[in-house]
Amino acid sequence: MTILVTGGLGYIGSHTVVELLQNGFQVIIVDDMSNSEKFILDNIEKVAGKRPVFFPFDLRRKELLAQVFDAYEIDGCINFAAFKAVGESQEKPLDYYENNLFSLINILQEFKNRNISNFIFSSSCTVYGQADQQPIDEDTPLKTPESSYGKTKQMGEEILKDFATAYKKKVSLLRYFNPIGSHPSALLGELPIGIPNNLVPYVTQTASGIREQLSIWGNDYDTPDGTAVRDYIYVVDLAKAHVKALQKLMAETSETVIDIYNLGTGKGSSVLEVVESFERANDVKVPYKICDRRDGDITVAYANADKAERELGWKAETSLDEALRTTWEWQKYLESRK
Ligand code: NAD
Ligand code: WQD
Repeated sequence: MTILVTGGLGYIGSHTVVELLQNGFQVIIVDDMSNSEKFILDNIEKVAGKRPVFFPFDLRRKELLAQVFDAYEIDGCINFAAFKAVGESQEKPLDYYENNLFSLINILQEFKNRNISNFIFSSSCTVYGQADQQPIDEDTPLKTPESSYGKTKQMGEEILKDFATAYKKKVSLLRYFNPIGSHPSALLGELPIGIPNNLVPYVTQTASGIREQLSIWGNDYDTPDGTAVRDYIYVVDLAKAHVKALQKLMAETSETVIDIYNLGTGKGSSVLEVVESFERANDVKVPYKICDRRDGDITVAYANADKAERELGWKAETSLDEALRTTWEWQKYLESRK
């Protein structure tokens, strides 16, 4: 089985490519390296023992995409390629709508024209906004996300539902909570460009001295320690869920399938708990100061991921400490490359 993995040199994509290769899939990556680097391809090969086929181009280039579909018999796609910086999406909404949605539609057109099914979409817990109940299951009502980035995820889901229904296709919408950590080999991980916005990259860079101090955005939330609560899911656990979701889609006998799964641990952790866990796991200090709340932040979000366990036989297995230990190993690897 040959799977097109868009954004396969990115953070979650590269870990998923390794899992696909280790499960016997052939992998074709399309990635324009707008947020990744070529050495990740070499490292995927080192970890998995196989080198995926790689095309470096922007998925908005329809004619190049068509050539890939002409050259290979593709059985499915996992579409990671997207811009993902929430703050940037507020400044450049058109860039986000264009990149995230045109890329998606271009691939779906190829699927439609060539009679291919099995499409997995990287969605996000951002589609729930500040949910009225916790934990969040898949039936929790969606709220219009605040950011243009979040809206591209909600729109992507709608596009895929229409696509599956109109053209009788099988799709899986995977709503990730907060992915963290790196591959145990320390050869794959997140490459934050510039000043990180997300918590774990910022904590990591603070521990390593690149940043002076972590700003904790608010300690007056209605949570046990006053800091906001999220569901931090280890990236290798998350990658494994993609293989399970793909295998389920491929085994489905119905022509039209719309699967939706929350991928999280089911456990909420506060910002302070993440800092303490990082310090404990790595025996380092993370200096921090308490600041005002960050605009647009929600108080709490954690998953009910029972549906994924029931239907995919998947659940998160890795502890927060262990995930944060791999993050630190990756940071040391990145520094050793300088
Ligand atoms: P990432 O930026 O590390 O990976 C995305 C990859 O796609 C990058 O390698 C980038 O170069 C590539 N890309 C972007 N636009 C492209 C285009 N037009 N053509 C070809 N390649 C393109 O991001 P990630 O953290 O691995 O996220 C993967 C997916 O998961 C994204 O769709 C993201 O929105 C979604 N997601 C991420 C998170 C998170 O916190 N990391 C949470 C929920 C959902
Ligand atoms: C986590 C917590 C911050 C940085 C974002 C996107 C969401 C999804 C995941 C893709 C919050 C606090 C952070 C810092 C801090 N991505 N924090 N100091 O906000 O849950 O979600 O990433 O779909 O769409 O919005 O993740 O890692 O930015 O923040 O105190 O320097 O850490 O306030 O409570 P978030 P995050």
